[in-house]
Amino acid sequence: MSQPSGTWYDTLTSTPVLIATAVGVSFAAIFAASSSKTPQQVKEQVKEVKNGVVNAADAKGKAAQAGASIMSAPAADLAPPKDDPIPSSELSQYDGSDPSKPIYVAIKGRVFDVTNKPEMYGKGKGYNIFAGRDASKGLGMSSLDIKDAVPDYSSLNESQMNTLNQWESFFEKRYNVVGKVVP
Ligand code: HEM
Ligand SMILES: *[C@@H]1O[C@H](CO)[C@@H](O)[C@H](O)[C@H]1NC(C)=O
Repeated sequence: MSQPSGTWYDTLTSTPVLIATAVGVSFAAIFAASSSKTPQQVKEQVKEVKNGVVNAADAKGKAAQAGASIMSAPAADLAPPKDDPIPSSELSQYDGSDPSKPIYVAIKGRVFDVTNKPEMYGKGKGYNIFAGRDASKGLGMSSLDIKDAVPDYSSLNESQMNTLNQWESFFEKRYNVVGKVVP
């Protein structure tokens, strides 16, 4: 089987696996709503990823396959990254509560424009917790708990740092950088 090349492939091999192992499959229904898949289909794919990864030598290929089918594809047409300062007080306006405003997610101080994914980051949606703020710590911990949705990620251990870095790389490939968070 031919494999996609480069970092795109590397991201897909890891991210869904980390999601799947972090919390089990109980959230499947939330995400099925945002894609063409039924909760059962999502659950099966997540299970496949989990099982594929623990032992087999072809685990990477298997995970990539399942991952590719449940995660959105990288964007082909990203704009040059911007470095505009965005005060965190201002960032909080872009949390999806006003449909006329863009939706921003910050990771390690860099602000990504996720406006085209209201079904994930919009008000009341599964990942709204990451909207309008820098929740780097929560991303590293695979946590959707509001108390972890903070910018200071200094408490993360090595594997959590890996997770955070993988999310950063996931976002870099999909969303425009519109600025950096300033105090
Ligand atoms: C069993 C639990 C979970 C399942 C089944 C699940 C499933 C999914 C699926 C299917 C996608 C891709 C959606 C798409 O591209 O359209 C996704 C994306 C994502 N998930 Fe999860 N997830 C789970 C838990 C978590 C947790 C605990 C976190 C916390 C960090 C998380 C963070 C994310 C993020 C940030 C995205 C990227 C959204 C985007 O910008 O495309 N997920 N998840
Ligand atoms: C990091 O912390 C998590 C959560 O407490 C734990 O499951 C994991 O084993 C730790 N990893 C390392 C490398 O210490």
